[in-house]
Amino acid sequence: MRIFFTGGSGKAGRHAVAYLLAQGHRVLNVDLVPLDLPGVDNLIADITDSGQMFNAMTSYAGFDEMEPGHGVPRFDAVVHFAAVPRILINPDNETFRVNTIGTYNVIEAAAKLGISKVVIASSETTYGICFADGIADPDFLPLDEDYDVNPVDSYALSKVVNERTARAFAKRFGIDIYALRIGNVVEPHEYKRDFPRYFADPGLRRRNFFCYIDARDLGQIVDLCLAKDGLGYQVFNAGNDENGMNLDNAELLARFFPNVPVTRALSPREALYSNRKIREVLGFREAHSWRAELAKP
Ligand SMILES: NC(=O)c1ccc[n+]([C@@H]2O[C@H](COP(=O)([O-])OP(=O)(O)OC[C@H]3O[C@@H](n4cnc5c(N)ncnc54)[C@H](O)[C@@H]3O)[C@@H](O)[C@H]2O)c1
Repeated sequence: MRIFFTGGSGKAGRHAVAYLLAQGHRVLNVDLVPLDLPGVDNLIADITDSGQMFNAMTSYAGFDEMEPGHGVPRFDAVVHFAAVPRILINPDNETFRVNTIGTYNVIEAAAKLGISKVVIASSETTYGICFADGIADPDFLPLDEDYDVNPVDSYALSKVVNERTARAFAKRFGIDIYALRIGNVVEPHEYKRDFPRYFADPGLRRRNFFCYIDARDLGQIVDLCLAKDGLGYQVFNAGNDENGMNLDNAELLARFFPNVPVTRALSPREALYSNRKIREVLGFREAHSWRAELAKP
């Protein structure tokens, strides 16, 4: 596929872009800064400028695309990762502005230019625990996509707005827009650096429900979304199979979520951030567990 990818220079995007290139896709990375990765095309553009998004989405990806003399090809899909990725980077209103306006612009351009598959980055923070003031409990565990998301911070709120924007455009244009509620992204070099610290102080990971998504497995999830057609608007949790923690659920729940209803039987280490839907609907198969990463020499 010929893919328009926003935010591919970032922490999550660069691994997803690498995965998509390895599957044989062509990727135009649209970002404020280029990604230095062999095989990727870069275009510097700002998602908060609608004109730039319409223009970039009707652009050649590279000089070679001029050679056939057939004009500019249409993108087959848009993957939208560009964002302010959390609170406390910019003032709250700026985070909200960039993320909501940017996502509106990207989705609107895709829909009106006839691109029928869009994947957007939503977030685990929509569940309202990650950036809560003090210790907040979810309504139930494990967290699944049917949860009534109700966050209180500008970043997570921007992601909920983006999900509604996606739903509206999917409905009006009859296209597929899949929102990935991405868990805490872990890059390959971060396992050995960070996980021993988490194991020593598990409370550090309560706000992430003790879960994570490997950046390369996230690439697989994006690719699976591109391969799956006809689902209209969808939300998917994007997380790995097990909690990123060396304790069983019985202990984690008793220590950190003693008052939270648990809605179904869980295997001892099964992720409290449920990835059942991506496994059952998209066919996700985890390739990079924390256990395997820590066991590497
Ligand atoms: N990292 C995580 O743990 C995590 C968890 C859940 C969701 N997410 C979401 O995943 C996506 C990627 O996150 P990340 O961690 O890679 O963030 P990141 O900040 O590393 O990357 C974001 C990229 O977007 C680009 N960008 C920002 N504003 C832009 C603009 N106005 N126009 C064009 N490009 C712009 C940045 O230059 C950067 O390369 C984001 O949407 C984020 O909200 C991340």
